[in-house]
Amino acid sequence: MSLLEWRDEFRIGIAEVDHEHQVLIGLINELHAALGADRSGESVEDFLGEIHARVSAHFALEEKDMQARRYTEFETHKADHERLLDDIRDIMDEHSESGVLDDQAFANRLAAWFGGHFKTYDARLHSFLQAQR
Ligand SMILES: [Fe+2]
Repeated sequence: MSLLEWRDEFRIGIAEVDHEHQVLIGLINELHAALGADRSGESVEDFLGEIHARVSAHFALEEKDMQARRYTEFETHKADHERLLDDIRDIMDEHSESGVLDDQAFANRLAAWFGGHFKTYDARLHSFLQAQR
């Protein structure tokens, strides 16, 4: 089973962006499938580190676009990105203390953030970018 199922509430209605978000979630699921039952500390650390890196790369592209187009909501949008990256960091810290990763809790935290961010920050940003074309 996938770690994170695509949900209708993730959809913002701009095909290109929805596709990118589906790819990101697919990537997270692939990393999770590759981790499988291997719960050695190092493997879980690598898994979380890789997710942090991929999500961060996705955000960096979006932030580059925002800056290039002088998007007025850049600071608050970026702050919401930082909030998820900090959350992933916290999960990494929790894991290194407890030695345990609760997959379901991790998935729920990601899904809650995606569900909130895509529909608000990303929907506003991408309709702004589209209007400029
Ligand atoms: Fe975003």
